[in-house]
Amino acid sequence: MITREQFYTDYDRIVPTIFEPYNRFIEIAAKAIPNNVESVCDLGIGTGNLSAAIKKYLPRVKIIGVDKYESFAEKAKIKIPGLALHIRDIFDGGLPNADYLVSSLTTHHFDTQTRREKLKSIARSGLGFVNFDMMLCDDLDLEDTISLIVDFASRSYSDRETLEELGKSIRENDNPMTLDEQLELFDSIGMRVDVLAKENPFAVYHAYWPTRKL
Ligand SMILES: C[S@@+](CC[C@H](N)C(=O)[O-])C[C@H]1O[C@@H](n2cnc3c(N)ncnc32)[C@H](O)[C@@H]1O
Repeated sequence: MITREQFYTDYDRIVPTIFEPYNRFIEIAAKAIPNNVESVCDLGIGTGNLSAAIKKYLPRVKIIGVDKYESFAEKAKIKIPGLALHIRDIFDGGLPNADYLVSSLTTHHFDTQTRREKLKSIARSGLGFVNFDMMLCDDLDLEDTISLIVDFASRSYSDRETLEELGKSIRENDNPMTLDEQLELFDSIGMRVDVLAKENPFAVYHAYWPTRKL
């Protein structure tokens, strides 16, 4: 059985065995950053995979990472030379200044009561926001989402305990929003949104202000 500790220690190896499109969607999200952007803030940077992919396409971009889990985010420093890392809650003390904001597999941790306001404040603080996350698409509910993830994970993990624990952890800790609600939310504040990839229960979108330019 994979323990929570193992999951975080061996995250980069385990995560693509649980979240099917992880590596592909990280690349899609990274390529969406316009090439004249000078700074990017990665919210919930974790081990830094999205920011490392952005650096591959935009080697001169400045990366600012925020994560509350220090021993996890320290791994990002190894992958991203010059990384400015803030170990704290994303919303404590305001969002760092950056041209663009990005996030991967993090916004589904926001609680149901505050997640709309949190997404709006992220969107308002830069020229654009690229988000790859678990989302409820095409009328999927949380139990459908769990079934899809557990079904995929069962290709790598045959023990029932691990698969049951995975379902339980998603049920207890994750609050994915619907993709439609997020599209409507950005539209309501005047942003445009392009959905760049969608494979249930994951999507990547790029929300941006049509009138703001670098
Ligand atoms: C599933 S991991 C994703 C990590 C990485 N972005 C990736 O693509 O693999 C979620 C990360 O978000 C961080 N996180 C979640 N909510 C947060 C918050 N409110 N403030 C700071 N970090 C947060 C967690 O500590 C964790 O590192």
